[in-house]
Amino acid sequence: MAESNEAINTTKKVIFSGIQPTGVFTLGNYLGAIKNWGPLQDEYNCIYSIVDEHALTVKRDPATFRKQTIECYALLLACGLDPEKSIVFIQSHNPNHAQLSWILSCCTQFGELTRMTQFKDKSQKHPDDVNAGLFTYPVLMAADILVYNADLVPIGEDQKQHLELARNIAVRFNQRYGDMFTVPDAYIPKTGARIKSLQDPTKKMSKSDDNPNACILILDDKDTIIRKFKRAVTDSDTEVRYAEGKDGINNLMTIYSCVTGKNMDEIESEFSGKGYGDFKLAVGEAVADSLEPVRTEYAKLIADKAYLKQCYTDGAQRAFRLSNKILTKASRKVGFVDYR
Ligand code: TYM
Repeated sequence: MAESNEAINTTKKVIFSGIQPTGVFTLGNYLGAIKNWGPLQDEYNCIYSIVDEHALTVKRDPATFRKQTIECYALLLACGLDPEKSIVFIQSHNPNHAQLSWILSCCTQFGELTRMTQFKDKSQKHPDDVNAGLFTYPVLMAADILVYNADLVPIGEDQKQHLELARNIAVRFNQRYGDMFTVPDAYIPKTGARIKSLQDPTKKMSKSDDNPNACILILDDKDTIIRKFKRAVTDSDTEVRYAEGKDGINNLMTIYSCVTGKNMDEIESEFSGKGYGDFKLAVGEAVADSLEPVRTEYAKLIADKAYLKQCYTDGAQRAFRLSNKILTKASRKVGFVDYR
């Protein structure tokens, strides 16, 4: 690999986003976030991270966790992230995130963190381990973004509240210590920002769902994908139509729209007079076909651990150098003694 240069193009805006390495990404992760990351790489300075420190807020088996982190890194590259164009790295390899997180936690109110809906959900889900990391998680997420002075953060709908908090923390820091951080904007896709469970379309699609049919994993094979779509919960109507109260069909239409680029009117006319069975099969096939290149590329990448290591090591070094400048400036602002 060519020696990478940490200097970024200062005329381009900076993008940061992250994803937890908690297993194979879901179709929700893919359509709501990752699929949109690749096309941004030419227009922006992109920094993408496997956020393993965030994943540690839930108890994990260390060996499985380590393996999954590398697999998820390979999966990001398989989804089209180019480690030459973007900085693609593993969060724990850059200690500057955690260091800035401490500083930012002193600009964050306890009350703000108690209002985070994901904290409420996750602490209900894991009542035996409501650890401090789970509570301060959104501060680390703010640090991930602010430590690069990112302008834009491509995310799905469920991360909007965390992003809003990151913006508030940035504004508060700037008011207290003088202009320092860029206040980042969310970059949420018009279609696909909230892909729902195939078994309960009022809930978001999530890999932690107990029912495996609720969730498409992006490495599922074609037969599995089609089978899961065939079993998707719909309604007692028969018309493929985007309408209030048709959550299951609306979700399938959204998915179909994301993978084919067709709008809702086009989808309605394509399936007019046809039943839900035909429609579900078409959605399954379209999704499986669009994920085929990801599966093929992943198989190649995961077999080459040395290449992956080279990529994430290089990514970590570039991320560290870039963030160090911003962290040093923030450290001076708050009054830490300079020793460099
Ligand atoms: P995570 O790992 O839960 O999800 C990664 C991305 O996938 C999106 N997403 C979805 N989009 C549409 N429909 C769904 N069903 C769906 N499920 C997940 C998420 O919105 C997210 O964009 N806290 C973050 C990770 C993170 C981060 C950051 C993101 C840590 N630091 C800094 C952006 C910037 C999380 O847990 O995402």
